[in-house]
Amino acid sequence: MDRLEKALEKPCAAENAETHLERHRIVAHKTRCPEADVYRQLRAKVLQIMNASGFKALAITSPHYGDGKTTVALNLGISIALDLKQSVLLVDLDLRKPSVHEYLNLRPQAGLTDHLLKDVPLKDCLTRPSFERLNVLPAGLPLESSSELLSSPKMISLAREVKTRYPDRIVIYDMPPVLAQDDPIAFLPQIDAVLVIVREGMTKAEDLKRCLESLKGANVIGTVLNNCF
Ligand SMILES: Nc1ncnc2c1ncn2[C@@H]1O[C@H](COP(=O)(O)OP(=O)(O)OP(=O)(O)O)[C@@H](O)[C@H]1O
Ligand SMILES: [Mg+2]
Repeated sequence: MDRLEKALEKPCAAENAETHLERHRIVAHKTRCPEADVYRQLRAKVLQIMNASGFKALAITSPHYGDGKTTVALNLGISIALDLKQSVLLVDLDLRKPSVHEYLNLRPQAGLTDHLLKDVPLKDCLTRPSFERLNVLPAGLPLESSSELLSSPKMISLAREVKTRYPDRIVIYDMPPVLAQDDPIAFLPQIDAVLVIVREGMTKAEDLKRCLESLKGANVIGTVLNNCF
């Protein structure tokens, strides 16, 4: 009986992990899944531009809260990591309201803010979810105010280090919304390219215009229309 219970434990745990990902719309690793195909198409377009220009650091942002930034950042990150030629570091740069670890069901001991403010070594802040070639740097303890930290010398040096350490690595930053916080603008100098998420039926043309104006000077490589399936 003990052995049977042990044997049943594993599939059950695996099913729970998958259910958790599905509930958060993390689907890019699935086969025969139309949503995953959409992310594969997005991956192809993003990698074409990034590789042609030698870009390594991609920020994902949007005008407002809830537009789907984290969902797209995670799915795109997983999709790129599944491409055998690339590895990915996904950084949760939404330091006030981090959610990457929640969506992946991770319980990190430390994250970016612990590295920046408490000198916790970077290697102790990195987490590896169950996807090959995908590493995650969670945000760490949430902060009230974070734009100063994002433009601090320590953060600038970290951004340079993670961008140049491995030639095959793409760094994806899950950012807060441009029209609600100054964090994305403060961090722009460290970014090679920006992907802007637009929420179908919700994002007003005027807000997208203001968002793109705020990002002027940055390399906006495209927009993603979300909530369309
Ligand atoms: N294409 C989609 N269809 C339906 N629901 C979606 C879609 N994309 C994201 N969502 C849901 O919308 C909610 C917000 O998504 P997400 O957290 O990715 O947005 P966000 O822009 O990162 O939000 P925040 O600005 O608060 O960080 C989540 O519950 C997510 O599962
Ligand atoms: Mg988010």
